[in-house]
Amino acid sequence: MSRARSGRLPVRRAAMAAACAAVLGTGACTPLDDAMAAIFGRSMRDQASFDPYEMTLLPPEGTVPISAGNYPAGPFDLNVGQPEGAADVPPPFTQDDIVNRPEVVDSLSNPVPPTPESLARGEQLYERVCIVCHGPDGAGTTGYIFELHPLMAAYPLNGDVAIARSDGYIYGMIRVGRGVMPGYGHQITHYDRWHIVNYVRQLQGPAAAAVAGAAGS
Ligand code: HEC
Repeated sequence: MSRARSGRLPVRRAAMAAACAAVLGTGACTPLDDAMAAIFGRSMRDQASFDPYEMTLLPPEGTVPISAGNYPAGPFDLNVGQPEGAADVPPPFTQDDIVNRPEVVDSLSNPVPPTPESLARGEQLYERVCIVCHGPDGAGTTGYIFELHPLMAAYPLNGDVAIARSDGYIYGMIRVGRGVMPGYGHQITHYDRWHIVNYVRQLQGPAAAAVAGAAGS
């Protein structure tokens, strides 16, 4: 029994190798795909892939899908689809403004009080988007990216520099990014950015309160 099985194995391997060689030799997937398409009427090329962060479920009937440029009317309102620039959404600014004209973002005032609901929403989003680089405590020493690039530790969200940043500056960082950090404005809507700002302030803890008190804000 066992002899028979071991006797067949090399034959099966040879067949597999021949099949692989045939597929690779004819230009990898394309002919196979074409053959599948001819037989089944569809191929692997026509798969329903989607982008990172893309909402893959259809929006409930009667609602407006969340996408870049659509913002909810209030901090916890459902998205009602105003374009960027409506309500109290600040006019567009760029990374260049953040670096060379920080007053553009420093002048933005946070319209969302740090209620428990706001902090919970901020935490949820921080853990979805920011934690991968800045780590759970904001120190940047435990994030996934830190494993690849220790640069993150040079920009701790709970360090003096970030504590001294205005709420508007952090809002600006989330919306357009700066330097190596990409912007997340297309994925995080207006009020959600402020919820994250509130959560970052909470991460910064009592040290932040001291800085804010000293700055008189
Ligand atoms: C892909 C990695 C990555 C993600 C995700 C990320 N950041 Fe950053 N962040 C960086 C890097 C890198 C810097 C330093 C930017 C530079 O080169 O000036 C930075 C800098 C910052 C700063 C400025 C700190 C300072 O010292 O001036 C703030 C504030 C900040 N990030 C907040 C956030 C928030 C809030 C989120 C989530 C919405 C987030 N970041 C998501 C990589 C990231």
